[in-house]
Amino acid sequence: MKKIVNTVHELETPCFIIDEERLRNNTLQLQTALQTYFSHSIFSYSVKTNSLPWLLTYLKNSGCYAEVVSEDEYMLAEALGFSNGDIVYNGPLKSKETFFHALSKRNIINIDTNRELLWLVEFSQQNTILAKIGLRVNIDMEALLPGVTDYPQDGSRFGFDIENGEFESALAYLKSNNITLSGLHLHRTTKTRSVDGYLKLCRFAIAIAKNYGLDLEYIDIGGGFYGDKPNAPTYNDYFAGIKNVLQEYFDLQKLTIIVEPGNAIAASCFDFLSSIIDVKKIKQHYVVTIDGSRNDIDPFFHKDSYFYEIYTAHPHDEQIKKVKRQIIVGCSCLEYDRLFEMHDTYKLTTDNKILFKFVGAYTMALSPVFIRYFPNVYVYKEKYILIRPRWTYQKLILDT
Ligand SMILES: Cc1ncc(COP(=O)(O)O)c(C=O)c1O
Repeated sequence: MKKIVNTVHELETPCFIIDEERLRNNTLQLQTALQTYFSHSIFSYSVKTNSLPWLLTYLKNSGCYAEVVSEDEYMLAEALGFSNGDIVYNGPLKSKETFFHALSKRNIINIDTNRELLWLVEFSQQNTILAKIGLRVNIDMEALLPGVTDYPQDGSRFGFDIENGEFESALAYLKSNNITLSGLHLHRTTKTRSVDGYLKLCRFAIAIAKNYGLDLEYIDIGGGFYGDKPNAPTYNDYFAGIKNVLQEYFDLQKLTIIVEPGNAIAASCFDFLSSIIDVKKIKQHYVVTIDGSRNDIDPFFHKDSYFYEIYTAHPHDEQIKKVKRQIIVGCSCLEYDRLFEMHDTYKLTTDNKILFKFVGAYTMALSPVFIRYFPNVYVYKEKYILIRPRWTYQKLILDT
Protein backbone atom coordinates (compact mmCIF):
# COMPACT_ATOMS: atom_id res chain seq x y z
CA MET A 1 0.00 0.00 0.00
CA LYS A 2 1.31 3.49 -0.92
CA LYS A 3 2.04 5.61 2.17
CA ILE A 4 1.88 8.95 0.33
CA VAL A 5 -0.41 9.76 -2.59
CA ASN A 6 -1.32 12.94 -4.42
CA THR A 7 -4.99 12.60 -5.29
CA VAL A 8 -8.20 11.40 -3.73
CA HIS A 9 -8.51 8.74 -6.41
CA GLU A 10 -5.34 7.05 -5.24
CA LEU A 11 -6.51 6.65 -1.66
CA GLU A 12 -7.24 3.14 -0.53
CA THR A 13 -10.83 3.14 0.70
CA PRO A 14 -12.51 3.11 3.06
CA CYS A 15 -10.52 5.73 4.88
CA PHE A 16 -10.69 8.71 7.15
CA ILE A 17 -8.95 11.87 5.93
CA ILE A 18 -7.81 14.53 8.38
CA ASP A 19 -7.63 18.06 7.02
CA GLU A 20 -4.62 19.38 8.92
CA GLU A 21 -5.25 23.00 8.04
CA ARG A 22 -8.74 22.83 9.42
CA LEU A 23 -7.49 21.19 12.59
CA ARG A 24 -4.88 23.94 12.97
CA ASN A 25 -7.56 26.61 12.49
CA ASN A 26 -9.97 25.01 14.94
CA THR A 27 -7.24 24.73 17.56
CA LEU A 28 -5.81 28.21 17.03
CA GLN A 29 -9.18 29.92 16.98
CA LEU A 30 -10.17 28.27 20.22
CA GLN A 31 -6.88 29.16 21.89
CA THR A 32 -7.06 32.76 20.65
CA ALA A 33 -10.63 33.17 21.88
CA LEU A 34 -9.75 31.76 25.31
CA GLN A 35 -6.79 34.12 25.61
CA THR A 36 -8.91 37.07 24.49
CA TYR A 37 -11.39 36.67 27.31
CA PHE A 38 -9.46 35.07 30.16
CA SER A 39 -6.12 35.80 31.85
CA HIS A 40 -5.85 32.16 32.94
CA SER A 41 -7.31 29.34 30.92
CA ILE A 42 -6.72 25.69 30.09
CA PHE A 43 -7.83 24.01 26.90
CA SER A 44 -8.11 20.34 27.71
CA TYR A 45 -9.06 18.22 24.70
CA SER A 46 -11.69 15.54 25.38
CA VAL A 47 -9.84 12.34 24.45
CA LYS A 48 -13.02 10.24 24.29
CA THR A 49 -14.30 12.28 21.33
CA ASN A 50 -11.56 10.97 19.06
CA SER A 51 -8.57 9.27 20.63
CA LEU A 52 -6.49 8.80 17.50
CA PRO A 53 -2.89 9.00 18.78
CA TRP A 54 -1.82 11.23 15.86
CA LEU A 55 -4.50 13.75 16.86
CA LEU A 56 -3.54 13.64 20.54
CA THR A 57 0.11 14.21 19.67
CA TYR A 58 -0.82 17.10 17.39
CA LEU A 59 -2.86 18.73 20.16
CA LYS A 60 -0.19 18.12 22.76
CA ASN A 61 2.35 19.84 20.52
CA SER A 62 -0.11 22.74 20.18
CA GLY A 63 -0.12 23.24 23.95
CA CYS A 64 -3.35 21.48 24.90
CA TYR A 65 -4.04 19.36 27.96
CA ALA A 66 -5.75 15.96 27.72
CA GLU A 67 -9.13 15.42 29.36
CA VAL A 68 -9.39 11.71 30.16
CA VAL A 69 -12.08 9.58 31.81
CA SER A 70 -10.65 6.09 32.29
CA GLU A 71 -7.51 4.18 33.11
CA ASP A 72 -7.01 3.39 29.43
CA GLU A 73 -7.33 7.02 28.36
CA TYR A 74 -5.06 8.12 31.21
CA MET A 75 -2.36 5.61 30.21
CA LEU A 76 -2.71 6.53 26.54
CA ALA A 77 -2.30 10.23 27.30
CA GLU A 78 0.73 9.57 29.52
CA ALA A 79 2.32 7.36 26.90
CA LEU A 80 1.89 10.13 24.32
CA GLY A 81 3.70 12.60 26.53
CA PHE A 82 0.97 14.26 28.57
CA SER A 83 3.02 13.69 31.68
CA ASN A 84 3.84 17.11 33.07
CA GLY A 85 0.63 17.90 34.88
CA ASP A 86 -1.26 18.44 31.66
CA ILE A 87 -4.02 15.91 32.29
CA VAL A 88 -7.53 16.65 33.52
CA TYR A 89 -8.80 13.39 35.01
CA ASN A 90 -12.61 13.12 35.06
CA GLY A 91 -15.40 10.59 35.18
CA PRO A 92 -16.48 7.64 37.32
CA LEU A 93 -14.17 5.06 35.73
CA LYS A 94 -10.79 6.10 37.15
CA SER A 95 -8.75 3.18 38.44
CA LYS A 96 -7.22 3.48 41.90
CA GLU A 97 -3.72 3.04 40.50
CA THR A 98 -3.99 5.81 37.92
CA PHE A 99 -5.89 8.00 40.39
CA PHE A 100 -2.97 7.75 42.83
CA HIS A 101 -0.53 8.34 40.02
CA ALA A 102 -2.41 11.44 38.88
CA LEU A 103 -2.51 12.74 42.47
CA SER A 104 1.26 12.54 42.69
CA LYS A 105 1.63 14.93 39.75
CA ARG A 106 0.37 18.45 39.15
CA ASN A 107 -2.68 17.26 37.23
CA ILE A 108 -6.26 18.34 37.72
CA ILE A 109 -8.63 15.73 39.11
CA ASN A 110 -12.37 16.21 39.22
CA ILE A 111 -13.93 13.81 41.71
CA ASP A 112 -17.11 12.17 40.45
CA THR A 113 -17.75 9.25 42.84
CA ASN A 114 -17.73 8.37 46.54
CA ARG A 115 -14.97 5.83 46.11
CA GLU A 116 -12.64 8.54 44.85
CA LEU A 117 -13.28 10.55 48.02
CA LEU A 118 -12.14 7.53 50.06
CA TRP A 119 -9.10 6.97 47.81
CA LEU A 120 -8.21 10.64 48.09
CA VAL A 121 -8.10 10.51 51.87
CA GLU A 122 -6.21 7.21 51.83
CA PHE A 123 -3.60 8.76 49.54
CA SER A 124 -3.36 11.97 51.58
CA GLN A 125 -2.56 10.06 54.77
CA GLN A 126 0.81 9.00 53.39
CA ASN A 127 1.56 11.36 50.52
CA THR A 128 1.45 14.98 49.51
CA ILE A 129 -1.26 15.73 46.99
CA LEU A 130 0.27 17.67 44.15
CA ALA A 131 -2.80 17.62 41.91
CA LYS A 132 -5.57 20.18 42.09
CA ILE A 133 -8.84 18.68 43.28
CA GLY A 134 -12.27 19.61 41.99
CA LEU A 135 -15.74 18.23 42.60
CA ARG A 136 -18.06 17.47 39.75
CA VAL A 137 -21.43 19.01 40.43
CA ASN A 138 -24.60 17.16 39.48
CA ILE A 139 -26.46 19.50 37.18
CA ASP A 140 -30.21 19.42 36.77
CA MET A 141 -30.05 21.23 33.46
CA GLU A 142 -33.80 20.98 32.96
CA ALA A 143 -34.25 23.16 36.03
CA LEU A 144 -31.76 25.69 34.67
CA LEU A 145 -32.84 25.63 31.02
CA PRO A 146 -35.89 23.50 30.21
CA GLY A 147 -36.06 21.32 27.12
CA VAL A 148 -32.37 20.88 26.37
CA THR A 149 -31.48 17.48 27.83
CA ASP A 150 -32.41 13.83 27.66
CA TYR A 151 -33.82 12.25 30.84
CA PRO A 152 -35.49 15.48 32.06
CA GLN A 153 -37.09 13.63 34.98
CA ASP A 154 -34.04 11.89 36.41
CA GLY A 155 -31.47 14.54 35.58
CA SER A 156 -27.80 13.82 35.05
CA ARG A 157 -26.12 10.74 36.50
CA PHE A 158 -22.79 12.48 37.12
CA GLY A 159 -21.37 14.47 40.00
CA PHE A 160 -22.58 15.31 43.49
CA ASP A 161 -26.14 16.53 44.01
CA ILE A 162 -26.60 19.88 45.72
CA GLU A 163 -30.31 19.53 46.46
CA ASN A 164 -30.12 16.28 48.45
CA GLY A 165 -27.03 17.27 50.45
CA GLU A 166 -24.51 14.92 48.78
CA PHE A 167 -22.39 17.83 47.58
CA GLU A 168 -22.30 19.37 51.03
CA SER A 169 -21.32 16.02 52.58
CA ALA A 170 -18.48 15.67 50.08
CA LEU A 171 -17.30 19.19 50.95
CA ALA A 172 -17.42 18.42 54.65
CA TYR A 173 -15.53 15.17 54.11
CA LEU A 174 -12.74 16.97 52.25
CA LYS A 175 -12.57 19.68 54.92
CA SER A 176 -12.44 17.24 57.81
CA ASN A 177 -9.49 15.57 56.10
CA ASN A 178 -7.68 18.85 55.38
CA ILE A 179 -7.99 18.48 51.64
CA THR A 180 -8.31 21.71 49.70
CA LEU A 181 -11.01 22.01 47.10
CA SER A 182 -9.64 23.95 44.14
CA GLY A 183 -12.38 23.77 41.59
CA LEU A 184 -15.86 22.90 40.38
CA HIS A 185 -16.51 20.75 37.34
CA LEU A 186 -19.71 21.65 35.51
CA HIS A 187 -19.71 19.71 32.23
CA ARG A 188 -23.22 19.32 30.84
CA THR A 189 -23.72 19.11 27.08
CA THR A 190 -27.10 20.42 25.99
CA LYS A 191 -28.98 19.33 22.88
CA THR A 192 -28.82 22.89 21.55
CA ARG A 193 -25.18 23.62 22.51
CA SER A 194 -26.44 27.18 23.06
CA VAL A 195 -24.50 29.98 24.72
CA ASP A 196 -27.42 30.31 27.10
CA GLY A 197 -26.69 26.87 28.58
CA TYR A 198 -23.19 28.05 29.59
CA LEU A 199 -24.55 31.27 31.09
CA LYS A 200 -26.87 29.19 33.25
CA LEU A 201 -23.96 26.96 34.31
CA CYS A 202 -21.90 30.02 35.27
CA ARG A 203 -24.74 31.45 37.36
CA PHE A 204 -25.07 28.06 39.02
CA ALA A 205 -21.33 28.04 39.79
CA ILE A 206 -21.60 31.48 41.37
CA ALA A 207 -24.54 30.39 43.52
CA ILE A 208 -22.60 27.36 44.75
CA ALA A 209 -19.43 29.32 45.47
CA LYS A 210 -21.40 31.97 47.38
CA ASN A 211 -23.54 29.51 49.27
CA TYR A 212 -20.66 27.38 50.51
CA GLY A 213 -18.09 30.18 50.79
CA LEU A 214 -15.74 28.44 48.35
CA ASP A 215 -12.43 30.01 47.46
CA LEU A 216 -11.94 28.50 44.01
CA GLU A 217 -8.89 28.41 41.78
CA TYR A 218 -10.73 27.08 38.76
CA ILE A 219 -14.08 26.56 37.11
CA ASP A 220 -14.14 23.68 34.65
CA ILE A 221 -17.05 24.45 32.36
CA GLY A 222 -16.61 21.18 30.40
CA GLY A 223 -17.14 20.62 26.68
CA GLY A 224 -20.19 20.65 24.45
CA PHE A 225 -19.30 23.64 22.22
CA TYR A 226 -19.87 24.02 18.53
CA GLY A 227 -16.69 24.52 16.53
CA ASP A 228 -16.64 26.02 13.06
CA LYS A 229 -20.19 25.01 12.19
CA PRO A 230 -21.83 27.67 9.98
CA ASN A 231 -24.58 29.69 11.70
CA ALA A 232 -23.72 28.26 15.12
CA PRO A 233 -22.28 30.17 18.10
CA THR A 234 -18.56 30.87 17.78
CA TYR A 235 -15.87 30.38 20.42
CA ASN A 236 -15.97 34.16 20.94
CA ASP A 237 -19.73 34.04 21.56
CA TYR A 238 -19.30 31.32 24.18
CA PHE A 239 -16.34 32.83 26.01
CA ALA A 240 -17.61 36.41 25.97
CA GLY A 241 -20.83 35.16 27.58
CA ILE A 242 -19.02 33.02 30.15
CA LYS A 243 -16.73 35.89 31.08
CA ASN A 244 -19.62 38.33 31.46
CA VAL A 245 -21.35 36.15 33.99
CA LEU A 246 -18.35 34.83 35.91
CA GLN A 247 -16.85 38.29 36.43
CA GLU A 248 -19.98 39.31 38.37
CA TYR A 249 -18.60 37.29 41.28
CA PHE A 250 -15.15 35.85 40.60
CA ASP A 251 -11.86 37.69 40.23
CA LEU A 252 -10.90 36.68 36.70
CA GLN A 253 -7.32 37.81 37.30
CA LYS A 254 -7.07 34.82 39.62
CA LEU A 255 -9.62 32.27 38.43
CA THR A 256 -8.60 29.73 35.78
CA ILE A 257 -11.25 28.72 33.25
CA ILE A 258 -10.94 25.14 32.01
CA VAL A 259 -12.71 24.04 28.85
CA GLU A 260 -12.92 20.45 27.59
CA PRO A 261 -13.94 20.62 23.94
CA GLY A 262 -14.04 17.49 21.84
CA ASN A 263 -16.63 17.89 19.13
CA ALA A 264 -15.60 21.52 18.45
CA ILE A 265 -12.08 20.43 17.58
CA ALA A 266 -12.46 17.03 16.00
CA ALA A 267 -15.78 16.97 14.13
CA SER A 268 -15.12 19.14 11.12
CA CYS A 269 -11.56 18.13 10.28
CA PHE A 270 -12.25 14.44 9.58
CA ASP A 271 -13.91 13.24 6.37
CA PHE A 272 -14.58 9.64 5.38
CA LEU A 273 -14.07 8.37 1.85
CA SER A 274 -15.86 5.29 0.64
CA SER A 275 -15.99 3.57 -2.76
CA ILE A 276 -19.07 2.18 -4.37
CA ILE A 277 -18.53 -1.55 -4.63
CA ASP A 278 -21.78 -2.62 -6.23
CA VAL A 279 -24.98 -1.33 -7.79
CA LYS A 280 -27.94 -3.61 -8.31
CA LYS A 281 -31.60 -3.32 -9.03
CA ILE A 282 -34.08 -4.58 -6.47
CA LYS A 283 -37.75 -4.14 -7.30
CA GLN A 284 -37.77 -0.79 -9.11
CA HIS A 285 -34.98 0.92 -7.14
CA TYR A 286 -31.20 0.63 -7.08
CA VAL A 287 -29.20 -0.52 -4.10
CA VAL A 288 -25.79 1.14 -4.07
CA THR A 289 -23.36 -0.61 -1.71
CA ILE A 290 -20.30 1.24 -0.43
CA ASP A 291 -17.23 -0.14 1.34
CA GLY A 292 -17.93 2.02 4.41
CA SER A 293 -20.66 1.54 6.96
CA ARG A 294 -22.88 3.61 9.19
CA ASN A 295 -20.75 2.08 11.93
CA ASP A 296 -17.86 4.22 10.65
CA ILE A 297 -19.59 7.58 10.56
CA ASP A 298 -22.77 7.24 12.61
CA PRO A 299 -22.16 4.52 15.21
CA PHE A 300 -25.24 5.60 17.23
CA PHE A 301 -27.34 5.18 14.06
CA HIS A 302 -29.17 8.39 14.84
CA LYS A 303 -28.27 10.72 11.95
CA ASP A 304 -31.00 11.40 9.44
CA SER A 305 -28.80 13.19 6.92
CA TYR A 306 -25.14 13.47 5.97
CA PHE A 307 -22.94 16.09 4.35
CA TYR A 308 -21.44 14.36 1.36
CA GLU A 309 -19.81 14.91 -2.02
CA ILE A 310 -19.78 12.41 -4.86
CA TYR A 311 -16.55 11.93 -6.78
CA THR A 312 -16.04 10.28 -10.09
CA ALA A 313 -12.75 9.19 -11.58
CA HIS A 314 -13.98 10.11 -15.06
CA PRO A 315 -15.56 13.29 -16.41
CA HIS A 316 -19.30 13.26 -16.11
CA ASP A 317 -20.88 11.30 -18.92
CA GLU A 318 -24.16 12.88 -19.94
CA GLN A 319 -25.15 9.55 -21.46
CA ILE A 320 -25.54 8.04 -17.99
CA LYS A 321 -29.21 7.85 -17.40
CA LYS A 322 -31.06 9.35 -14.49
CA VAL A 323 -32.88 6.96 -12.19
CA LYS A 324 -35.81 7.48 -9.90
CA ARG A 325 -34.52 6.09 -6.61
CA GLN A 326 -31.16 4.92 -5.28
CA ILE A 327 -30.54 3.72 -1.73
CA ILE A 328 -26.95 4.07 -0.56
CA VAL A 329 -26.19 1.26 1.87
CA GLY A 330 -23.23 0.29 4.04
CA CYS A 331 -20.98 -2.73 3.70
CA SER A 332 -22.09 -4.55 6.84
CA CYS A 333 -24.66 -7.31 6.86
CA LEU A 334 -27.06 -5.26 8.96
CA GLU A 335 -30.32 -4.75 7.10
CA TYR A 336 -30.57 -1.29 8.68
CA ASP A 337 -27.09 -0.18 7.55
CA ARG A 338 -28.68 2.30 5.11
CA LEU A 339 -27.25 5.80 4.77
CA PHE A 340 -29.30 7.95 2.46
CA GLU A 341 -31.41 7.97 -0.68
CA MET A 342 -31.08 9.84 -3.96
CA HIS A 343 -34.02 10.64 -6.17
CA ASP A 344 -34.11 11.47 -9.87
CA THR A 345 -30.33 11.61 -10.11
CA TYR A 346 -27.66 10.09 -12.33
CA LYS A 347 -27.18 6.42 -11.72
CA LEU A 348 -24.16 5.81 -9.53
CA THR A 349 -21.55 3.34 -10.68
CA THR A 350 -18.51 1.60 -9.21
CA ASP A 351 -16.46 4.49 -10.63
CA ASN A 352 -17.91 6.77 -7.97
CA LYS A 353 -16.69 7.47 -4.48
CA ILE A 354 -18.62 9.21 -1.71
CA LEU A 355 -16.89 11.61 0.65
CA PHE A 356 -18.75 12.05 3.95
CA LYS A 357 -17.78 15.36 5.52
CA PHE A 358 -17.21 16.45 9.14
CA VAL A 359 -17.30 13.04 10.80
CA GLY A 360 -14.48 13.25 13.35
CA ALA A 361 -16.45 13.35 16.62
CA TYR A 362 -17.71 10.18 18.32
CA THR A 363 -17.15 8.06 15.21
CA MET A 364 -13.73 6.41 15.09
CA ALA A 365 -13.66 6.05 18.87
CA LEU A 366 -17.02 4.27 18.86
CA SER A 367 -16.65 2.07 15.80
CA PRO A 368 -16.97 -1.58 16.66
CA VAL A 369 -14.67 -4.27 15.34
CA PHE A 370 -17.57 -5.56 13.31
CA ILE A 371 -17.19 -7.37 9.98
CA ARG A 372 -14.58 -4.98 8.60
CA TYR A 373 -11.94 -3.67 10.96
CA PHE A 374 -10.70 -0.11 11.46
CA PRO A 375 -10.08 1.65 8.14
CA ASN A 376 -7.03 3.57 6.93
CA VAL A 377 -6.45 7.07 8.23
CA TYR A 378 -4.69 9.67 6.10
CA VAL A 379 -3.67 13.24 6.88
CA TYR A 380 -4.03 15.75 4.10
CA LYS A 381 -1.41 18.48 3.89
CA GLU A 382 -0.72 19.09 0.19
CA LYS A 383 -0.47 15.30 -0.18
CA TYR A 384 -2.26 12.45 1.54
CA ILE A 385 -0.08 10.74 4.12
CA LEU A 386 -1.11 7.43 5.63
CA ILE A 387 -0.82 7.77 9.41
CA ARG A 388 -2.67 4.63 10.49
CA PRO A 389 -2.94 1.66 8.17
CA ARG A 390 -6.17 -0.28 8.35
CA TRP A 391 -6.47 -2.98 10.95
CA THR A 392 -6.36 -6.52 9.67
CA TYR A 393 -7.20 -9.78 11.42
CA GLN A 394 -3.53 -9.89 12.46
CA LYS A 395 -4.03 -6.91 14.80
CA LEU A 396 -6.80 -8.79 16.53
CA ILE A 397 -4.86 -11.97 17.12
CA LEU A 398 -1.55 -10.35 17.98
CA ASP A 399 -2.04 -10.52 21.74
CA THR A 400 -3.68 -13.91 22.01
C1 LIG B 1 -16.68 15.38 31.02
C2 LIG B 1 -16.73 15.67 29.56
N1 LIG B 1 -15.98 16.67 29.08
C3 LIG B 1 -15.98 16.97 27.76
C4 LIG B 1 -16.76 16.26 26.86
C5 LIG B 1 -16.69 16.64 25.40
O1 LIG B 1 -17.91 17.05 24.91
P1 LIG B 1 -17.98 17.58 23.37
O2 LIG B 1 -17.34 16.55 22.53
O3 LIG B 1 -19.43 17.71 23.11
O4 LIG B 1 -17.25 18.88 23.34
C6 LIG B 1 -17.57 15.22 27.33
C7 LIG B 1 -18.43 14.46 26.41
O5 LIG B 1 -19.21 13.65 26.74
C8 LIG B 1 -17.55 14.91 28.72
O6 LIG B 1 -18.29 13.91 29.21
